[in-house]
Amino acid sequence: MYNKLLTRRRTLYLGLGTLAGIGALTTGKFINNFQQNQVLANQDRNFKVAGKIPLKERAARKGLIYGADCNTLNLQSVPELQTALVQECAMLVPGFLKWDMLRPTADSFNLTRGDWYVEFAEKNRMLLRGHTLVWHDALPRWFKETVNKQNAQQFLEQHIQKVAGRYAGKMHSWDVVNEAINVPDGLPNGLRKSPWLDLLGPDYIDLAFRLTAQVDPQAMLVYNDFGLEYDTPKDEAKRTAVLKLLERLKSQGTPVHAFGMQSHLFGDETRFNPQKLRDFFRNVASLGLKILITELDVIDRKLPQDIDVRDRIVAGVYEDYLSAALDEKAVIAVINWGLSDRYTWLSEFYPRSDGAPVRPLPLDANMQRKLAWNAIARAFDNAPKR
Ligand code: XIL
Repeated sequence: MYNKLLTRRRTLYLGLGTLAGIGALTTGKFINNFQQNQVLANQDRNFKVAGKIPLKERAARKGLIYGADCNTLNLQSVPELQTALVQECAMLVPGFLKWDMLRPTADSFNLTRGDWYVEFAEKNRMLLRGHTLVWHDALPRWFKETVNKQNAQQFLEQHIQKVAGRYAGKMHSWDVVNEAINVPDGLPNGLRKSPWLDLLGPDYIDLAFRLTAQVDPQAMLVYNDFGLEYDTPKDEAKRTAVLKLLERLKSQGTPVHAFGMQSHLFGDETRFNPQKLRDFFRNVASLGLKILITELDVIDRKLPQDIDVRDRIVAGVYEDYLSAALDEKAVIAVINWGLSDRYTWLSEFYPRSDGAPVRPLPLDANMQRKLAWNAIARAFDNAPKR
């Protein structure tokens, strides 16, 4: 059925390709020539996949872990998403283990929901990732008036003991520190203006890793960041700053084990350079760090509304990115930020101006595999073994 549909689409594109492209251009359906070129280039692209085996198995064959964040606080009541996660994923990320979700007041913790996800993953033999212990964002309202330079370290220690402690021995990895670099802030070493930096100084990063290592010595400890994927001066400056941060941490003996490349990709971004990505990953790997693709999705905000066209462009972006990324053998995991288009942060954070539902993930809103799924499957099938 899927193949038949593809063949029909292909015929349509091949037959009407140029005409449709030009027509669409003049009716303003395409925003720019690049997108038209992408469509023309992608129409001959064959996103065929052999067999139907799930992504986790294709990944495992290459020594990789495939997983997803579920992007809903309510997985308990969505059995169809549970089924899809168990089917496709070897790893689950309850990506809401953030301060504002866990700490309703300064002296209480609510870990009930987190516990459910951990049990769900254990029951279904999935690995778990924790996200995230230290971030400038998602801090509870009480934080500002309660935490000060005198008590900040105590708050951080207590948080890590309580949260990482609760799940000690159960987490494959923790995003210990998230998004600590933001070069445009103009601070030394490209550090981001963050409450943690104000409260504890630049050593808050080292402190967070050391504390987590004490509390959960088995977990792989990850520094996670975004905005590093493209061949632009902004991303280049950030890559340099992240690399320097990782170098400093390693040289001072901070227990950091891996780098998390969020990978929120833009469907309309022209400046992807596979060699730049490989070079960056090589540099990270040469510090003795593993690499995880931690929050992969493709933002389709500026892509044409037509679903066939959009899915094709999104699939192309996935395959181009992953085939470059997986060339680096230090990459050990690929994690989507959400599995199904029904549950994605992008509906809220990067909605389309035409109001059409976004389609950034491998499964559609009805948990059916899309062309993006094929693209990821192909990237795994073609990846070198690690
Ligand atoms: C997003 C979640 O998916 C949303 O549900 C939440 O409201 C906001 O945060 N980078 C990160 C993630 O590290 O924590 C963010 O997750 C997406 C961007």
